[in-house]
Amino acid sequence: HPKVTIQTIKKLYAERKPIALMTAYDYPTAVACERAGVDMVLVGDSLAMVALGHDDTSQITMDEMIHHSKAVSRGLRSPFIVTDLPFGSYQSDERTAVENAVRMVKEGRAEAVKLETGRRGAPKIDAIVNGAGIPVVGHIGLTPQTAVALGGFRVQGKSLASAQSLVDDALALQEAGCFAMVLEAMPSLVAETVTRLLRVPTIGIGAGPATSGQALVLSDMVGMFDRFTPKFCQSYSDLGPRMADAVGEYKKEVRNGAFPVEGVHTYAMPAAAEESWR
Ligand code: KIV
Ligand code: NA
Repeated sequence: HPKVTIQTIKKLYAERKPIALMTAYDYPTAVACERAGVDMVLVGDSLAMVALGHDDTSQITMDEMIHHSKAVSRGLRSPFIVTDLPFGSYQSDERTAVENAVRMVKEGRAEAVKLETGRRGAPKIDAIVNGAGIPVVGHIGLTPQTAVALGGFRVQGKSLASAQSLVDDALALQEAGCFAMVLEAMPSLVAETVTRLLRVPTIGIGAGPATSGQALVLSDMVGMFDRFTPKFCQSYSDLGPRMADAVGEYKKEVRNGAFPVEGVHTYAMPAAAEESWR
């Protein structure tokens, strides 16, 4: 697959070809995305939950995100790699936001960063894009980093006022310089309106079919996260149970002596050495 650049993403958007974004958390998940030829890979801070077992995404640090972003980058050649700036790394002031975005590019090998914020974060996005020259993906709607303030993991934009607020956020983020925007968990109609009003692509997750692209969390769609699966997720595999079955099979064969098999999984000495050893 040829290298996906911002130009490629703009072209897909102009040609109305839906953009496929998938999350990845380490080398093997990155290799799966590389082989599948997805357009964009997101090192999402969802990794706090699906790869590290936290209850939410609030505790993951810059250092942890960088560690995973580096691993993902080693598995990718063609997809465009975006890494989430974690909670606390861009909220305080523009200077801190820029410093952490720069770290994510220099150390984490990200090509762009994603910030979960509406219009109140626009000055930070402007500083990262126009000050530091780092492409930014916005993220509005259900923003898990601020789920507590939203009253939990809840669909956004169901009321007219809340829908209007999402439109205002989207326009402000575009104005601040985002080259793309994730729309998470909102009515399809609201996502369609936002998509129509913007001149940058929208990447929907639980936002219906009218967005410029789609995103899913890899662990959810391959059945690797056991705690819960959101309604918007389509199940494409059941790797979690299959992995557990494989480990169970191994454990059984160790116990009953069926594994390892002499002559199959084993090494032998050269015949002469074996002779005198015996
Ligand atoms: O962290 C993540 O996986 C995300 C996607 C849901 C867009 O932000
Ligand atoms: Na995220």
